[in-house]
Amino acid sequence: MKINILGTGKIGGGLGEKWAAQGHQIIYGVRDPQNPKYQALAGKNVQFKTIPEAVSSSEIVVLAIPFPAVKDVLEKAGNLQNKLIIDTTNAIAGVPAGFQSAAEAVKNWSGSARVIKAFNSTGSANLRNPVYQGMRIETLICRDDVDAKKIVQKLAEEAGFEVIDAGSLNQAILLEYFAKLWIHLAYQQGMGAGIAFKLLRR
Ligand SMILES: NC(=O)c1ccc[n+]([C@@H]2O[C@H](COP(=O)([O-])OP(=O)(O)OC[C@H]3O[C@@H](n4cnc5c(N)ncnc54)[C@H](OP(=O)(O)O)[C@@H]3O)[C@@H](O)[C@H]2O)c1
Repeated sequence: MKINILGTGKIGGGLGEKWAAQGHQIIYGVRDPQNPKYQALAGKNVQFKTIPEAVSSSEIVVLAIPFPAVKDVLEKAGNLQNKLIIDTTNAIAGVPAGFQSAAEAVKNWSGSARVIKAFNSTGSANLRNPVYQGMRIETLICRDDVDAKKIVQKLAEEAGFEVIDAGSLNQAILLEYFAKLWIHLAYQQGMGAGIAFKLLRR
């Protein structure tokens, strides 16, 4: 698949490396494609384009930029109406007025009905290695579009996660609070980034 990733940092770069290794074509949308700092991510199956060029060349858009930059980036990204947008963001400083969640804001600002919340609820170190004691941890997802869910489920599994479907996108705030809990435990409670939640079933 061709996957456009906006953001080359801990989340965008981490997912891109994994999916490129699985044979997907990764097109990073960046502010300055010529900037040598991106060379660390360069390699087979990887390209760097401006954000509008990257968005227009792929059906799948992964949002992996700080939430405060999202509105502006989406406005400049071109037509997003039919894109499958994977929203990894967390609005740490708060969800903008008028929205219930960052994901709902992304849906509104992008005009896409195919927004999926995923990969937001655990730390980037767990994204690089999602295995604890021989068990794969889950990424929780919220989605409205069933076909989009199938695609994201496959991509999540290829990145090493199991998937828990937490329901429709209007539940995404639960995943965003879940991320806040993980951040609180890791950093405010001093447990560190080597912690993860796992759903156990009887
Ligand atoms: N880190 C985590 O553990 C974690 C876990 C779950 C979810 N998240 C969420 O994932 C998202 C990305 O986090 P991260 O930790 O990967 O961040 P990061 O390592 O700081 O990387 C941020 C990326 O966003 C790009 N960016 C920043 N402002 C931009 C703008 N105005 N226009 C275009 N690109 C811009 C940066 O590009 P430049 O290189 O050009 O500056 C960089 O590639 C955030 O919303 C965060 O809340 C993070």
